[in-house]
Amino acid sequence: MEIDYSKASYIFDGIKDEFFPASMVETIRSFVAIENIYRAAIREIVTKLENFNDEFKYTKDRNPIHQIKSRVKTPKSIIEKLIRKGFEVSVESARKNLNDIAGIRVICSYIDDIYTIADLLSRLDNIEIIKTCDYIKNPKPNGYRSLHLIVRVPVILTKVVEYVTAEIQIRTIAMDFWATLEHQLAYKIGRDHSNEISAELKACADVIAQTDYRMQKLFNEIQKK
Ligand code: GTP
Ligand code: MG
Repeated sequence: MEIDYSKASYIFDGIKDEFFPASMVETIRSFVAIENIYRAAIREIVTKLENFNDEFKYTKDRNPIHQIKSRVKTPKSIIEKLIRKGFEVSVESARKNLNDIAGIRVICSYIDDIYTIADLLSRLDNIEIIKTCDYIKNPKPNGYRSLHLIVRVPVILTKVVEYVTAEIQIRTIAMDFWATLEHQLAYKIGRDHSNEISAELKACADVIAQTDYRMQKLFNEIQKK
């Protein structure tokens, strides 16, 4: 069976040249079929975030959000994650078991901005926060920091309303700097670093976190003037 890559070229990134058994082709097709609802969910959320940012610019003459990134997980990594976590490989299973098919990363200037954005999101009627993981108050043992929200948003289609889950990671520029480099290093050498490398990465995360708090303090002092 032929897959029409042109209709979903972006979601097929990384799997075009790989061999997938025929039995997998239907599954991949079905993932492409739901890609649009995840993209729609991302648009709904990103628009709200951009509106907050614009309003801040107008009323407070500054932007709490430095950058917004988003992505829909590719069928390849959806399938890999389902297998890794021991779930059935199907669209129904992915929708039920994976929270991060739609992923949004909000990079803020200061730590307080993270909580301001999370609070504003929590007040919206049509975004339901179903889980919060505060890895800033409780950093991961390796030093990872970010605020994670798992949310559910209604996506209005022509015939039905679909409820879609998305993962929003909110972090400062500094937290993003560490997480991005740590992710690249982990990709190269695997997550099981030697003790020495883990300790060094953790030490860097802690220095970066201290700097984040100092910048927040500086910002607060300058605001008072
Ligand atoms: P996943 O199976 O990775 O989704 O883990 P989970 O469902 O337990 O969620 P968790 O909150 O631990 O992590 C979700 C996402 O946060 C990951 O997919 C990464 O994008 C990011 N993340 C979590 N831990 C780390 C980390 O140690 N380093 C980096 N760079 N990113 C992380
Ligand atoms: Mg994930």
